[in-house]
Amino acid sequence: MPVKPRLLITRKLTDAVLARAARDYDVMINAEDRVFGSAELIAKCQEFDAVLPCHSEHFSADVISALPKRLKIIANHSVGVDHVDLAAAKDAGVVVTNTPDVLSDATAEIAMLCMLGAARRGAEGDAMIRAGKWDFWSPAFMVGRQVTGKRFGVLGMGRVGQVAAERARGFGMTVHYHNRKPVPEHLAKGAVFHDTVEGLFGNSDVLSLHCPATKDTTGIINKDTLTMLPDRAILVNTARGNLVNEDDLVAALESGKLFAAGLDVFRDEPGGNPRISALKNVFLLPHIGSATEETRDAMGYRALDNLDAYFKGRDPGDRVA
Ligand code: 8YV
Repeated sequence: MPVKPRLLITRKLTDAVLARAARDYDVMINAEDRVFGSAELIAKCQEFDAVLPCHSEHFSADVISALPKRLKIIANHSVGVDHVDLAAAKDAGVVVTNTPDVLSDATAEIAMLCMLGAARRGAEGDAMIRAGKWDFWSPAFMVGRQVTGKRFGVLGMGRVGQVAAERARGFGMTVHYHNRKPVPEHLAKGAVFHDTVEGLFGNSDVLSLHCPATKDTTGIINKDTLTMLPDRAILVNTARGNLVNEDDLVAALESGKLFAAGLDVFRDEPGGNPRISALKNVFLLPHIGSATEETRDAMGYRALDNLDAYFKGRDPGDRVA
């Protein structure tokens, strides 16, 4: 029987995914399910041919340069790959893959939850009841903003952005988007393309972020771009925390420039930002965009498909470096 490749799985995955991994690989799992810092990640990787990490493990250029020669592939359990220095991986001859498509539905659902939670003051109402403070009702009580008939702005009309747009249409919203280039009409489905950020932001009653985190998009939501939004707009972020300058976001939420924000991601994770958590007009989730049973199975299988292809001498379908 051929020797199974040695695979390090850095976090706890679903039982079904772990069972398949253990069938086909000589697997070590991080049973404690805690994040490995750089030194520990390097140390753990030494005896392995492949690693299957999540976005929580950071493969910086320094980490990649300290990986053993035998480790040839980083098969991520994520669509985002901002935690991996792709240029360093390429230089080192390490293949990198991700898990696109399979998490688009789950993440778009969370974008809708964030939008509605923010627009309809979901967190505020929930907290009030739990605290035993619901002692009043009137037609003027807990009035939020309706999304029906409003404009849903998509920054980054990729796979997740397209599904979020589709869901927003289900709420009777019209869709506007900005992307590096327009997407074909069968994917845009009538969404209005804006060739500038300013054009999109000016037409977004709800602005939903779906672009990757790169050096060009870091801090793309800041005091200057926030002024481009209509007054009392709603910001939704299910992509990456570093797209947003959180100090500027807090100022816009405090001034009322933004009606509310629905956020699943933060600059500091886990933990979030205490200044944001202190505000009433936010609906917050702990980075659970892809956290459904179906999607976590599908992401794990997709990462294993990429590993299988690599170890069978084929090009993994989701190769990003
Ligand atoms: C996950 C994500 O939380 O895919 C991504 O880029 O941020 C999320 O789906 C995570 O990476 C799961 O491992």
